[in-house]
Order: sequence, then C-alpha cells, then structure tokens
Amino acid sequence: MSVAILGIETSCDETAAAVVIDGITISSNIISSQVEIHQKFGGVVPEVASRKHLELINGVIRVALEEAGLSFKEIQAVAVTYGPGLAGALLVGIATAKAIAYGLNVPLLAVNHLEGHIYANFISSPVLPFPLICLVVSGGHTELILMERHGSYQFIGGTLDDAAGEVFDKIARVLKLGYPGGPLIEEIARQGKEEAIFFPRAYLAEDSLDFSFSGLKTAVINYLRKSQQKNEMINPADVAASFQKAVIDVLVDKTFAAAARYQVKTVVLAGGVVANRQLRTRFLTRANKEKIEVIYPEPVFCTDNAAMIACAGYYKYLRGEQAPFSLNAAPGLMLGTDGTV
Ligand code: KG4
Ligand code: ZN
Repeated sequence: MSVAILGIETSCDETAAAVVIDGITISSNIISSQVEIHQKFGGVVPEVASRKHLELINGVIRVALEEAGLSFKEIQAVAVTYGPGLAGALLVGIATAKAIAYGLNVPLLAVNHLEGHIYANFISSPVLPFPLICLVVSGGHTELILMERHGSYQFIGGTLDDAAGEVFDKIARVLKLGYPGGPLIEEIARQGKEEAIFFPRAYLAEDSLDFSFSGLKTAVINYLRKSQQKNEMINPADVAASFQKAVIDVLVDKTFAAAARYQVKTVVLAGGVVANRQLRTRFLTRANKEKIEVIYPEPVFCTDNAAMIACAGYYKYLRGEQAPFSLNAAPGLMLGTDGTV
C-alpha cells in the first residue's frame, strides 16, 4: 500500500504544504511566498512572517490536498519542520501539523529543515548510493555533512561566521539590487567578468573543512566604499561575477576535499544557493574531472518547500520515528553535531 504524507514548512518566509506519495511522487507542492512583503524591509521580519503564516497556512494545506486529489482521511502521516528557523514561524507549522495528526490519528513526523533540504535530492534520485557527502548552502547555513545511511548525519565542517546565502543577500543589498539577493546577483553576474576583481577566498587551515565568508563580504563592501570615495565608476556586474566566483571556488574546493578525505564517490548539494546555475555547472565540471557523481535537486526543490519535508518524513515513517505531541520549535537545531536530528 502506498503512503501519502502531508508535509508542512513554515520555518522562514515561505508558507508551504505538499503531498508526497512513497517519498518520490509529488502529488502537490504549494508554496505561498511572503517575499514581496519582506522585500519592503530588505529582509525577513520575524513577527510579520509568523502572522502571515497564520493567515495562509490553512488555505495552503487545503489547496495542497485539492491538487493531490486527496481528502484528509487519505493522509497516512504529517511531517513538519521543527527547526532550525524563526521560533514564531516554526510554531505555526508545528501547531497545525499536531492538530491534523491528532485529528486523523496518524503519526506526527518532526523534520529538521536541513535534513529536508538534503532529502530534496531523494525525490528525483531515491536510490542514492551511501556514503554521501552533503553540502547544505542556504540563507542560514553552510555545512558539510557525511551521511552513511538514511537518517544518519555526521557534521564534518561548517561556516565559522556568515552563511553563503546570507552573504549573497548582503552583497545584493549593498549593490542596491533588492531581496532575496542570490537570484539577483546571479542574474547580473551573467553580464560581468569573473576575473575583473580579485576578492579573497578563505580556505582557513590546510586540512580545514570549515568555511568563512565574512572576510569576503568585508572585502566587497570595502571595494565599493573605496571606489565611491575616489569617485570611480564601478561595474556592478563585474562585482557580482567576481564575488560569486569567490564563493563558488571555496564551496567546490572544500566539498571535493571532503569527498577525497572520506573516500566518498557521491556528492549531494542542498539548499537555496544550489539554485544558482553557475554553481551547478562548476560542481558538474569538477565532478567529471574527479570521477565523482554530483546530484542536486531541480531549482524549485532547492529553495524552501514542503515536498522535501514530506520526503524526509517518509523515511522517518518507515523507521517508525514518530514525534510526541509535546513537540516544540527548535530554532537553533543543528544537524549531526550531537547525534540527534
Ligand atoms: O534554502 P533557502 O530557500 O532558505 C533557507 O533555508 O535559508 O535559501 C535561501 C537563500 C537566500 O540567501 C537566497 O539568496 C539564496 O538562498 N539563493 C541563491 C539563489 N537562489 C536563492 N543564492 C545564489 N544564487 C541563487 N540563484
Ligand atoms: Zn531552507
């Protein structure tokens, strides 16, 4: 018998619900973005985000079920993001998921948002060969995770300061491009020259699998400030292209260094920054050279969505990992550092 899971995601500024069958068939994937509202403020305003989730969540779930052609009674489990993310925003999804799971008397499945991003890969490639090196690059995280089997995460490196997506957003803001920055930087970078300006890459200690992007961020800001002081014209496309290359160079080098160190033949990319076409191409080129397989989700499954949460939930369902109804939001939840998810 097939298993239909309702996924719910409200950790940041997307109110999302999806129905996924057996972890692979997407029956519906509804995402109501609040981006336009937060754009006015140049970033996500937590209190506004939770209020909007509250307004939108029931409608988004109703549409997800309608599109899937299923009634509540045909749902076998409810998967929800319980962290990391904004506390108030997470609570809206968690309270809704609890009510539905309790009402239907089906398991409640608690999914780590980062685990969800990784599982977006299992939607299109359900038989990925373990062990895997996973690079998670989103607005809040830049992490390397070694995965030896389903549900097992070993943290092997991460950012010491800013996340890659956060720096994309910041540089877009100083270039006055708007929010969210990643897609806008990518867009203008296509008109620019990657080698136009040299920005520093932080590799840290020789054997380090950690990242640091704050130096790069400061270097770009200083470059813009100095040019302004000297009344020099800058070419935003060149700045964007050179900055983007600096980020991608480090992400590629560290990820393949991790694959070599752990003798892993398959690399999995996850998180919003993976929607970047230049990043995808660079990973593929390096993968061909090193005879390593690189997998990444379709762009719509890279950024926040609930299908990835339902997919991660499916494997928990198979393992019988039911969450208690006392489940609380875990805004600072990590992946793989303390043996828990
Ligand atoms: O995974 P995600 O949707 O939300 C979080 O969990 O944070 O990631 C959002 C981040 C933002 O920082 C956004 O600027 C970045 O992903 N992003 C991109 C692209 N699309 C989204 N960064 C670079 N290039 C893109 N095309
Ligand atoms: Zn995310």
